[in-house]
Amino acid sequence: MKIMVVGGGGREHAIIKKLKKSPKADKIYALPGNGGIAADAECVNIGAKDIEAIADFAVKNKIDFAVVAPDDPLVLGAVDLLEKAGIPCFGPRKNAAIIEGSKIFSKNLMKKYGIPTASYEVFTEMNEALEYLKDAPIPTVIKADGLALGKGVVIATTREEATDAVRSMMEDRQFGDSGSRIVIEEFLTGPEVSVLAFTDGKTVIPMVSSMDHKRARDNDEGLNTGGMGTIAPNPYYTADVAERCMKEIFLPTINAMNAEERTFKGCLYFGLMLTENGPKVIEYNCRFGDPETQVVLPLLESDLLDIMIACSNGTLSDTEVRFSSGAACCVIMASEGYPRKYASGFEITVGDDCEAEVYIAGAKLSDGKLLSAGGRVLGVTATADDLKGAIDKAYANVVKVGFENAYYRHDIGKRALAAFSDK
Ligand code: AMP
Ligand code: GLY
Repeated sequence: MKIMVVGGGGREHAIIKKLKKSPKADKIYALPGNGGIAADAECVNIGAKDIEAIADFAVKNKIDFAVVAPDDPLVLGAVDLLEKAGIPCFGPRKNAAIIEGSKIFSKNLMKKYGIPTASYEVFTEMNEALEYLKDAPIPTVIKADGLALGKGVVIATTREEATDAVRSMMEDRQFGDSGSRIVIEEFLTGPEVSVLAFTDGKTVIPMVSSMDHKRARDNDEGLNTGGMGTIAPNPYYTADVAERCMKEIFLPTINAMNAEERTFKGCLYFGLMLTENGPKVIEYNCRFGDPETQVVLPLLESDLLDIMIACSNGTLSDTEVRFSSGAACCVIMASEGYPRKYASGFEITVGDDCEAEVYIAGAKLSDGKLLSAGGRVLGVTATADDLKGAIDKAYANVVKVGFENAYYRHDIGKRALAAFSDK
């Protein structure tokens, strides 16, 4: 089969490396891919948001199956266009991708169907939001309605920070139209868990759970980033929690989307917080997480292509989805300065003795050399029988990979591990 993967980050590299293992995958294109992905797929210089060009390419090249990985093309309707052109796809249609594309939609969905989440108010007028904040409980959480490159959430610990956040979203339009409507919600506390789930709209099969580390620096200090590392499984996500999430969150969400005539197919990402009052949804994403995918897919033992096809044609209940009982840890190497200003163009070297998978997120090829070209440059993923083994192995291998001005966190998974080894 000829496969096309839309996207060009570490997540897409992990997807492509897994798809390559399928005996049915004869040829894989990446749109646009990146310099590192070029070792595993043919990269085509079409941007992930250029959905018309993506559909044209698919038709001209007789693509048999398309995987649309990033949020933007999904929310823009890439799957609808591809399906209209007769190309089967993994990923939700536009009317279901709204579960990530609009926070107001997802909050209202949860309220209507009794799915546990933080209590909230929606504002379309800045003055009303500012009035509400005068005696709202602090800390409070301010969210831009639309996509904002993962930056549209502000946890305000003072009233002043909260009003500043509202002004910058609604008045200064820091995130463009994404901030013309906002959600102000209750601040929740508890361990966070990411659960990605395969679904064909009828059956939902959660993958192994994971934990992201969003802050730039050790001990969860520094700025929020797209994610500096992940572990899987997440030790807080016990069998009891999993059972509760299936009953109270996963199935009700799939059923709610069907009831709204917005059947969701593809990978639904549940960002959960395990609060004192039970698991609650912090956010939905309509796609695989990045860098969660870089720890979840290495643990998948079944054929990813078969599963993706089953999600698209409604046969997931008949398809094997098996994960190893082991663990994985991914340490992201970023360019010093990320998530703010950083320099790139430095050669990336991977030692011959590297025993980990290296997923390239931001790099380009120049005269046969792989050069850094982004904030998050790559992820080093190790797997082992248990979490401690995976963390130790990831860190033993990170030092074998490098580029000038690289930085990474030294404590991925360590706090979670410590919380459980005390017991
Ligand atoms: P982002 O990935 O930028 O959307 O940021 C979401 C992050 O903000 C989550 O991973 C949480 O850590 C935090 N967050 C979002 N909503 C809440 C909430 N209601 N209470 C506490 N933290 C939250
Ligand atoms: N790692 C969080 C996300 O993919 O949104």
